[in-house]
Amino acid sequence: MSTYTVEDPRKVTTRRLAEMKAKGEKIAMLTAYDYSMAKLIDQAGMDVILVGDSASNVMAGNDTTLPITLDQMIYHAKSVMKGVKRALVVCDMPFGSYQGNSIEALASAVRIMKESHAEAVKIEGGAEVLESIQRILSAGIPVMGHLGLTPQSINKFGTYNVRAREEAEANKLIEDAKLLEQAGCFALVLEKIPAELATRVSKELSIPTIGIGAGGGCDGQVLVMHDMLGINQGFSPRFLRRYADLGNAITDAVGSYITDVKSSDFPNEKEQY
Ligand code: KIV
Repeated sequence: MSTYTVEDPRKVTTRRLAEMKAKGEKIAMLTAYDYSMAKLIDQAGMDVILVGDSASNVMAGNDTTLPITLDQMIYHAKSVMKGVKRALVVCDMPFGSYQGNSIEALASAVRIMKESHAEAVKIEGGAEVLESIQRILSAGIPVMGHLGLTPQSINKFGTYNVRAREEAEANKLIEDAKLLEQAGCFALVLEKIPAELATRVSKELSIPTIGIGAGGGCDGQVLVMHDMLGINQGFSPRFLRRYADLGNAITDAVGSYITDVKSSDFPNEKEQY
């Protein structure tokens, strides 16, 4: 059992993440969707908390991230913000809230910032969503990019397999990464791409890269909380390391409670008034 000691207790900002990259200090990011878990994750010393649209899968039980709405993302981000003191909180912009046109994209981002108080937004895609990213950035809203496997485009890709193995796709990813950096994104998620490509992008960019299934050459790592805590039991891709078996711990604890209720063991004399 190891606990992490936070060396720098100051609030994490986008600027601090840039300093971390410059110093070669790795960035830890994890998803959260509610107040209680966000509070625990923040207390553990997390640098960045992502209110991911993976909430659509792990909180709402959908097969993809597509159904989650802007209102639902705002609800999750607002709950997370109440539990967090130190970590930088980034909220995913959900499918359909930024792809149409840049004015709608800005309106969606403004709603996230005003109503949830999240501190930045994340957007999937490169050149095709650049205008939206630029308009959001021009309003002073920090944007984290997301390239490689972009789950909101699952219906275009058809699979969740590793992306950018082919040269043409790898070259497009490198171009997109540079475009996002030039536009002013403060960080970039690289999802499920070859480690060698992620390392190259991380070296060529001055903004931090945060990998998921993209190898150890990234400037930071992100995982989905339910996956790494063993709550999402059916999901075990190669890149995932499980740090706890909460799924079985919860089922066992609930089973013991049911047994105690049925046997009249709970409540006992000390547990009543
Ligand atoms: O929604 C999410 O959880 C994400 C991470 C996997 C990066 O986008």
